[in-house]
Amino acid sequence: MSNQLSIRGVSRTFTSPGGQSTQALQPVDFEVRKNDFVTILGPSGCGKSTLLRIVAGLDYPTSGQVLLDGQTIEGPGADRGMVFQSYTLFPWLNIEQNIRFGLRERNLPEAQQKERADYFIAKVGLRGFEQHFPKQLSGGMQQRTAIARALANDPKILLMDEPFGALDNQTRVLMQELLLGIWEAEQKTVLFVTHDIDEAIFMASRVAVFSARPGRIKSEIAVDLPHPRHYTVKTTPAFMELKARLTEEIRAESMAAADH
Ligand SMILES: Nc1ncnc2c1ncn2[C@@H]1O[C@H](COP(=O)(O)OP(=O)(O)OP(=O)(O)O)[C@@H](O)[C@H]1O
Ligand SMILES: [Mg+2]
Repeated sequence: MSNQLSIRGVSRTFTSPGGQSTQALQPVDFEVRKNDFVTILGPSGCGKSTLLRIVAGLDYPTSGQVLLDGQTIEGPGADRGMVFQSYTLFPWLNIEQNIRFGLRERNLPEAQQKERADYFIAKVGLRGFEQHFPKQLSGGMQQRTAIARALANDPKILLMDEPFGALDNQTRVLMQELLLGIWEAEQKTVLFVTHDIDEAIFMASRVAVFSARPGRIKSEIAVDLPHPRHYTVKTTPAFMELKARLTEEIRAESMAAADH
């Protein structure tokens, strides 16, 4: 299958107003195929969010380039949907208006806006909450709204930066299953950053492990677990073997990061 996203020699160095520079990313080369579900693990501060933001077009690389279906990314676009850890809904819009936001921006006819929004509201289990405002919803429900909003735009690729990081464990597991179900049905390409090794394995078709800062992709591991995935897979020998391997790799990098 062809590569949809090509990250080619992408590095990023931040320079403070005082002239001090921080290299967040070493040149990163990474290819993502269509419908891949790639999870990214790595120590805190190694540049994972920086890389995602560059792919989103919210930041730019110091060197290198990112191509989406052969086109260089030069800014944000509807072909990429972003979901962050903290809730980023518009507080003055209700759930339905939040989900329709991008569709309205694109001047989609009213009937189509409604149809797409309704479809994804049902998909993430928020029927009956259309008229509620974000602050009236739980964290999990807000995150489901953010996912529905990202999906409603029909992006080629979903960029998710610790989307379930702020949720309690029970809700988190439900959200993992929900997102996997959507991924299996909608055939999306996903880049998903997490600190949770179980989550990284459970969700992924491939796990990319970042080195300590300045980050680079240290290793990639294919996850060959069956679909549809059920949480009981976490107790299988294949899963535990992957977990042991990744735990060791992350530990080594986190120790390297602490030495800085
Ligand atoms: N806008 C910015 N200006 C200056 N430095 C920045 C900026 N954004 C990130 N950095 C620096 O780049 C490095 C990587 O940050 P980044 O947020 O990408 O890490 P991360 O891997 O997402 O960490 P975490 O796992 O804690 O979220 C850090 O040293 C951070 O301080
Ligand atoms: Mg981050």
